[in-house]
Amino acid sequence: MTGHQAPKQPDKLWSGRFTEVAGADLNRFWSSIGFDRKLAAFDLRGSIAHARMLGATGIIALEESCALIEGLESLQEDLATGQVAFLEEDEDIHMNIERLLQAKIGSLAGKLHTARSRNDQVALDTHLYVRENSLHTIRLLARFQQTLWTQAHGHIDTLMPGYTHMQRAQPILFAHHLMAYFWMAQRDIERMQDGYRRANISPLGAGALAGTTFPIDRQQTSAELGFAGVYPNSMDAVSDRDYVVEHLAANALISVHLSRLCEEIVLWMSAEFGFVSLSDAFCSGSSMMPQKKNADLAELVRAKTGRVTAALMGMLMVLKGTPLAYNKDFQEDKEGLFDSVETVQASLQHITAMMAVLQVKKDRMAEAAQKGFLDATDAADYLAKRGVPFREAHEIIGKLVRICLESGRALKDLPLAELQRYHAAFAEDFYTSIALPTLIGLRQSEGGTAPSRVQEQLDKGRTCLAQTEAWIAEKQAVS
Ligand code: ARG
Repeated sequence: MTGHQAPKQPDKLWSGRFTEVAGADLNRFWSSIGFDRKLAAFDLRGSIAHARMLGATGIIALEESCALIEGLESLQEDLATGQVAFLEEDEDIHMNIERLLQAKIGSLAGKLHTARSRNDQVALDTHLYVRENSLHTIRLLARFQQTLWTQAHGHIDTLMPGYTHMQRAQPILFAHHLMAYFWMAQRDIERMQDGYRRANISPLGAGALAGTTFPIDRQQTSAELGFAGVYPNSMDAVSDRDYVVEHLAANALISVHLSRLCEEIVLWMSAEFGFVSLSDAFCSGSSMMPQKKNADLAELVRAKTGRVTAALMGMLMVLKGTPLAYNKDFQEDKEGLFDSVETVQASLQHITAMMAVLQVKKDRMAEAAQKGFLDATDAADYLAKRGVPFREAHEIIGKLVRICLESGRALKDLPLAELQRYHAAFAEDFYTSIALPTLIGLRQSEGGTAPSRVQEQLDKGRTCLAQTEAWIAEKQAVS
């Protein structure tokens, strides 16, 4: 006997053909109860649907089916009141629950696994988990959007510099900037809704891989669990983890979006920008430097993108090269999935709270928008609109910017006579046409930063929020 082996413990649920079993170390290594306990509620729900179907189809007696359901429902109560103890020896959540059921109703518990394998069982649990969490993440994304919308609505007249290459580029409304994140979140919602469709398919009844000889009714269990339909192929049903990858990918993008917002918050809060201030509740100080107030939450959420993205990469690597159908490799889908879901949901929740009380320093933003030649494009457009080819206009304004830089002036400080030395098209109206509010008001192209267009976005955003709310209500009712 090697150190890896221990004398046979006859009580393993699959131990019939075994004469030796793994030692404690190996048991710990391959047991998943440490994490798949999070699936307990889904496992019980799935088992209740399966037990009811076994009775309805006459595969087991109706009284047996009722006794199984009663036992499982009593376990649901125990679970809700924290009265279940899971054992590592029982390997995973499925075998733990069967054992707990056995303790409650005796050997009849052994009939629950008729016409079912842990392979379709775990696939079912994971589908239910992804489906429910897609819904919850959408709920959190909608709250995040609502917060951005409210802030944007309150800042429809707040000017700030817009940047490209992190250099001041053109003036924009702060509302416009915030609404850019609203639309990212809208795509995140749509991706989650799309993924929800593929998570919302029942694998139950696929058996180990090839279906079963029992006259099961897959439609019944699927309908009881609120699924839109069943997998048409039993092998695909037990080995598909695409919906997990899709969920992880959608989470990775949410995380990237939050990270980009957080980076801006960190920058804007610095003394160099001074555009916003955060509530103390979302910041922490330094143990050494008494003056410090750091945007810790924003930094941490920015960093969480690492593990959320890693979960996606990890899952893709787990799947690569797995032959059909079920492989133990699939057990590795769970820790990354749970971590990604929990991290993204917590990040959304905290960032939403932080954004809800974000203080905007309008004066600092407006002051920054006055500097850095944010009017240069408009100055070139001014000439172009008076017949000067844009390339030539660009060159002229570029020269004027250089002159201003050398003399510490802004374009609006150049006297008309000086301007006209560079082009005769300059006239008195040049000065009003490069005033900041004019510049913003003129950007009336669809999706532009003009207040009328930002208002249009706010209206569209409100419609999207209402649509999402209706979608959530509909799905909540069936799942
Ligand atoms: N704990 C396993 C998993 O997460 C459950 C399925 C086990 N199936 C099996 N044939 N070993 O994938």
